[in-house]
Amino acid sequence: MGNDRGPGPAGGTPALGIVGAGQLARMMVEAASELGVRTVVLAARADDAAVPVASEVVLGEATGGRALADLVARCDIVTFDHEQVDLELLHQLEREGARLRPGLRTLRVAVDKAEMRARLAAEGLPVPRYEVLDGDARGPEQLAAAVCTFAGLEGWPVVVKAARGGYDGKGVWSVDGEAAARALCEEAASARIPLLVEAHVDIDVELAVVVARGEDGASVAWPPVETAQVGGVCREVRFPGRLDPDLAGRAAALAQEVASVVDATGVLAVELFSSDGRLFVNEIAARPHNSAHWTIEGATTSQFENHVRAVLGFPLGDTSPLAAHVASVNVFGAPSAEAELGEAELGDRMSAALSVRGAHVHLYGKTPRPGRKLGHVTVCGDEPADVRTRAWAAAQALGTPIPDSLDVAAS
Ligand SMILES: Nc1ncnc2c1ncn2[C@@H]1O[C@H](COP(=O)(O)OP(=O)(O)O)[C@@H](O)[C@H]1O
Ligand SMILES: [Mg+2]
Repeated sequence: MGNDRGPGPAGGTPALGIVGAGQLARMMVEAASELGVRTVVLAARADDAAVPVASEVVLGEATGGRALADLVARCDIVTFDHEQVDLELLHQLEREGARLRPGLRTLRVAVDKAEMRARLAAEGLPVPRYEVLDGDARGPEQLAAAVCTFAGLEGWPVVVKAARGGYDGKGVWSVDGEAAARALCEEAASARIPLLVEAHVDIDVELAVVVARGEDGASVAWPPVETAQVGGVCREVRFPGRLDPDLAGRAAALAQEVASVVDATGVLAVELFSSDGRLFVNEIAARPHNSAHWTIEGATTSQFENHVRAVLGFPLGDTSPLAAHVASVNVFGAPSAEAELGEAELGDRMSAALSVRGAHVHLYGKTPRPGRKLGHVTVCGDEPADVRTRAWAAAQALGTPIPDSLDVAAS
């Protein structure tokens, strides 16, 4: 699929390949396009979000040898939109000359939550107490017993996680007792999912720091943001939210250290918990991240532009914020009865969203389904309550239900 290779872009700028073609790839492509950089995406499906905007498309699975080899042949540098990759295959491609950014040293840590915990803990960085449960070596009974033993030390509830393949709260379970542990381990053992169990952190605030790092080790970070999750899914990002300068400063320093420890190239997102004044690293993502979509309008250089700059070896752009307050709210598919709206209703919704003053609406071109992440809205301004109210008004106009727990009206 796609055009033939054709001439390279003006000035010999390298062509960027992206494994995966979701919304992150779409926004990377848009940033690359502004810099005149040609892009090739590896899309699992012809209706993936980045397909209509990429310069070229290779259709195939991210774990497919032929599709990946085709991608590598069509570009100079390969980067990633998600973590569902086959490390051995990538290793082989790298040996054959593929230039992966981030490289395998980083990917190995980023694609596996057990590796992630182990690597960061080995460097003395703060992570929740955890234990890796080796599913291959243990049946469901033994797995459940291990979870219960861990809970005996840490107290219920504990948090059980799939080491690989989870996202947006899928693959994370809060387990509050022996019966729940047994039920979960039965299911996990039959699905052969590698698990870890960790202490439940009493979170005061969840935050994220996104860093962009060049191959030379130079790095810049956007200011830390507060993230609001409901049921493990990020619903809203606030700059600066409830983060005071001391906490924000410590979080930024910790994230830069993490980026250096995992030897990141490109954008690296670090999700953190603040609990009783202490910071814990929850997880990292070695790619652009939902918590920094606000940087498209809210910062001098967006995370997508700096990712492209970093992986292609160009200087990194200024990460200063452009507003005192920014709110970015995710747009989700409406509940089922509303999912089959006609063109006219969809047009009305769009009109209502675009009539909200200062609302930057981003829709990823995905077919609406209840609960599916379809886009985001960002509002920049001077007052925290005002930017939140406007961002939520636009997201709600697009059909996003407002979760009770976020207390938007009170903001
Ligand atoms: N150890 C923990 N203690 C308390 N809450 C947790 C813990 N781990 C995860 N969570 C909650 O679950 C959410 C999703 O977990 P995370 O590991 O980030 O998975 P995902 O890959 O789905 O983002 C977190 O944002 C946080 O709200
Ligand atoms: Mg997470």
